[in-house]
Amino acid sequence: KIRAVITAVGGYAPDYILDNHELSRIVDTSDEWIMTRVGIKERHILKGEGKGSSDMAVKAVEEIFRKTGTQPDEIDLVIFATVTPDHVFPASANILCDKLGIRNAHGFDLNAGCSGFLYALDTASKFVEAGAKKKVLVVGADKMSSIVDYTDRTTCVLFGDAAGAVLLEPGEGEYGVIDSILRSDGVGRKYLKMEAGGSVNPPSHATIDARQHYIFQDGRHVFKYAVSNMADVSVEMMKKHNLSGEDLAWLVPHQANMRIIEATAERMGLDKSKVMINIERYGNTTAATLPLCLWEWESKLKKGDNIILAAFGAGFTWGSMLIRW
Ligand code: ACO
Repeated sequence: KIRAVITAVGGYAPDYILDNHELSRIVDTSDEWIMTRVGIKERHILKGEGKGSSDMAVKAVEEIFRKTGTQPDEIDLVIFATVTPDHVFPASANILCDKLGIRNAHGFDLNAGCSGFLYALDTASKFVEAGAKKKVLVVGADKMSSIVDYTDRTTCVLFGDAAGAVLLEPGEGEYGVIDSILRSDGVGRKYLKMEAGGSVNPPSHATIDARQHYIFQDGRHVFKYAVSNMADVSVEMMKKHNLSGEDLAWLVPHQANMRIIEATAERMGLDKSKVMINIERYGNTTAATLPLCLWEWESKLKKGDNIILAAFGAGFTWGSMLIRW
């Protein structure tokens, strides 16, 4: 059986750091509230080094090219997970390919909220396992600051900008993507959304006045679904493969709220030392959280490590993936 193996990871977070103290001068909030309820200290915001999500993605992919010596024309598929594409169309994948000189690939965007990278990695792995593609870039990049309402304290403290990417190649044996369980439920569409800008509510003065081009989130509802679903699907993966907490080297959870991460790890019987957590320094970077974790932890990963990736996001969408490194 051909398996899809992650052979390199790249990441990028912009230079500008927006910390809780600066935010507390913009809206009625405090470092203490944000740290206790969410666990975020600071987030990166794209200001000078480009304008869109693709500019951050370029940096993450360039790192992969540098590290592996891969040439742009060797890439045969690009999947770009994002909720903040450069434009509604063309796809940011196409823009990324153009900026990087990738000419022999097909590419498309994938929107699954904060589960976008997980969905994209699953999709990409199927192309590799089928023998159809040999060098695939899976990108998660979001410029959340472009859709965050900095007058809404319930959402503006949560999000940051970043990009992450992996190179996926064929391998044999028991290494690589082993399994994934993906779910979605449209019940979530009313709790987490950007109301306008699409075909139902095209941009107008009315939608702008109603602040409908920003993220809307009913945090309490989303929290309730996130905490149970992310844990359920991770435990389901462990049971399916007969794995205990001992057998797992790492959990890579979506970074939306420290309390959700801790509850998931607890349900899985995992010690916190085995959980990749960087929410304090980046906040929720949506499609970028999982590859950004892999990027930061890459040097600690050992061949044969059992790793579970888990995510939950807008839609609702959620899922888990088992990777043997
Ligand atoms: N500073 C100070 N007070 C605040 C702030 C803030 N930044 N934000 C809200 N509050 C207040 C509220 O107004 C409320 O006050 P009230 O009781 O007087 O009405 C109080 O704090 C409690 O508000 P809750 O919304 O109940 O706070 P909660 O503990 O639920 O935390 C949070 C909010 C962090 C948003 C949490 O609900 C959460 O993490 N939800 C899940 C997020 C998530 O997983 N999203 C999915 C991925 S995102 C994607 O797909 C794009």
